[in-house]
Amino acid sequence: MNKKITDGIIYIGVDDKYIDLFEGQFDVPNGMSYNSYVIIDEKIAVMDTVDASKTDEWLANLEAALDGKTPDYIVIQHMEPDHSGSLKAFLEKYPNTTAVGNAKTFVMATQFFGKDLICNKTEVKEGDTLNLGAHTLTFVMAPMVHWPEVMVSYESTDKVLFSADGFGKFGALDTDEDWACEARRYYFNIVGKYGAQVQSLLKKASALDIQTICPLHGPILTENLGYYLDLYNTWSSYEPENEGVTIAYVSFHGNTKKAVKKFKEILLAKGAKKVSTFDLMRDDFAESVEDAFRYSKLVIASTTYNMEIAPKAENFASYLKGKNYQKRTVGFIENGTWTPVSAKLLSKIFSEMKDIKICDTVVSIKSAMNDENIEQMEKLADEILA
Ligand code: FEO
Repeated sequence: MNKKITDGIIYIGVDDKYIDLFEGQFDVPNGMSYNSYVIIDEKIAVMDTVDASKTDEWLANLEAALDGKTPDYIVIQHMEPDHSGSLKAFLEKYPNTTAVGNAKTFVMATQFFGKDLICNKTEVKEGDTLNLGAHTLTFVMAPMVHWPEVMVSYESTDKVLFSADGFGKFGALDTDEDWACEARRYYFNIVGKYGAQVQSLLKKASALDIQTICPLHGPILTENLGYYLDLYNTWSSYEPENEGVTIAYVSFHGNTKKAVKKFKEILLAKGAKKVSTFDLMRDDFAESVEDAFRYSKLVIASTTYNMEIAPKAENFASYLKGKNYQKRTVGFIENGTWTPVSAKLLSKIFSEMKDIKICDTVVSIKSAMNDENIEQMEKLADEILA
């Protein structure tokens, strides 16, 4: 449903309540919003389109907002299909519109749609402006937040930052839920690898007077913007947000799970502020990644499988590496009936990451935890909480 953001800026995005997996991989139990905006002025600019599954609904929203007028510009801040998926339908309906993007935008547009789709284009670079009348957009390049062609747009009259994927979250707009929880899960799984690039964008944003943030997913942010900017600064600098321990485990016959339960009790008894546990075979993978980044310490407990780390635990460790995981203390619990090796192999993966302190103590279980393992757990808990 359309919503007025300011006198000249209207939200025309859509909710997808029935999406299976966002980007083909992430569970979104509360759906997803694809945000889009239109700026009504002497010249009319549409800010991004939406996923192809919602083209008709979005075009109807746009038509209602236009109230008989036609758009002059379509600003393409991000070419990923959840935002450019309706570009073709839009340009077929409004063929005289000028597409506004940067050099990389138009390369990607050709890759996705062929060279004939965009007939009229304005290529912009860092700091270029687009005057619409009372409103002026300034374009700020934001490469790798989250694709190379991403740019954000600042509207200086109403002081609105159109932030592309930045400050987005999972969840449809009609979902009543905490912002940070699903914004954090979104951030670390979608953008997490590119902290340096987010830091660079935050630095540019700090020079702007921003009163409203209009992201491409999730709610429009109008109040207490410092709260969101501070969280983004913490997340993109890879500093832990909270003290606590995340334990991610794979247990085939229940014995490693029992050890994790015992280790959690020991950690809490020794004063751990928070211990979150994830069964990597069953729980939401993206949430386990979120908590690995959220808390200051991480323990992986893994069965040995084919003389390797259990595949889901190996995948978890490698995924964190791919996301630039750093600045954490990490410990391991391994299990194996004849030759437990997962701690050694996990240690190798984490030793290749930046600023990771690997605990000397390893809890090494043979089949089922015994008294010696509980002593190892006491020692590992002391070491990881130190
Ligand atoms: Fe929401 Fe990177 O697309």
